[in-house]
Amino acid sequence: MNPEVKPDFLISPEGLRIDGRRPDEMRPIELKVGVLKQADGSASIRQGKTYIIAGVYGPRELHPRHLTLNDRAYLRVVYRMATFSVPDRKRPAPSRREREISMVIANSLKPALFLEEFPKAVVDVFIQVIQADGGTRCAAINAASLALADAGIPMRGLIPSVAVGKADGKLLVDLGDEEDKYGQGDVPMAIIPQTEEITLLQQDGSFTKEELVEAMRMGINSCKYLHELQKEALKRTYVKKPGEEGDDDYEDDLETDLGEAELMEGE
Ligand code: CDP
Repeated sequence: MNPEVKPDFLISPEGLRIDGRRPDEMRPIELKVGVLKQADGSASIRQGKTYIIAGVYGPRELHPRHLTLNDRAYLRVVYRMATFSVPDRKRPAPSRREREISMVIANSLKPALFLEEFPKAVVDVFIQVIQADGGTRCAAINAASLALADAGIPMRGLIPSVAVGKADGKLLVDLGDEEDKYGQGDVPMAIIPQTEEITLLQQDGSFTKEELVEAMRMGINSCKYLHELQKEALKRTYVKKPGEEGDDDYEDDLETDLGEAELMEGE
């Protein structure tokens, strides 16, 4: 057991954070697409020690039927934390917090999706937090958006998300767990990068108007960085390198070259 101890300071005299990051520096991020065999689309994210997997199923028939929407698909998001994802064992029953975060994530993703293309159907997004170390709702949005793209759900664009918080009076991007627990608040946000439309904006703690404007500026910058990582993760899965198995153009070219070589030999 490793009892948590409140750190003496969250910002060092040199202006660095407890894990050595600069205020505007995100944690190391690793995104993977297509991590689940059974799902129609899936993705995982490691953001610092936070580790989350998202699986998308659908569009498919909706049960129970009374939830059916006649003009669009129902986006059903279920965010859950594994019992072992936090230092104290998390009770397995769905908590109020999990239900609220599920709703918040659904509302953040919906503006990017063409759900009207699948009336009466459901698109299920299951999010499992394997390890929680702060910022799980934002990391979950980053992974869920990629999983929806992997499932081929038509979308305006990917949704990146990050929280900007405040500790020792300084604005900090992408809070770790201790900064979240012992800091003065945070502002989780999500955007459609192409238009800078904001699809999620929450606030916990108090911020001045100037701080909020600056937090949003920092958050939008980080979201744009995250968006590049999301696009790279998709490309790694779908765009094959020349010569790699599955590169149809390359294989066609190869066949043509071989055919021509045989012809030349026969001449
Ligand atoms: O994860 P996020 O910041 O989006 O949501 P939060 O409700 O502000 O939770 C902050 C952090 O508290 C989580 O990321 C977890 O690391 C931690 N937490 C926990 O230790 N035990 C819980 N039952 C819930 C959250």
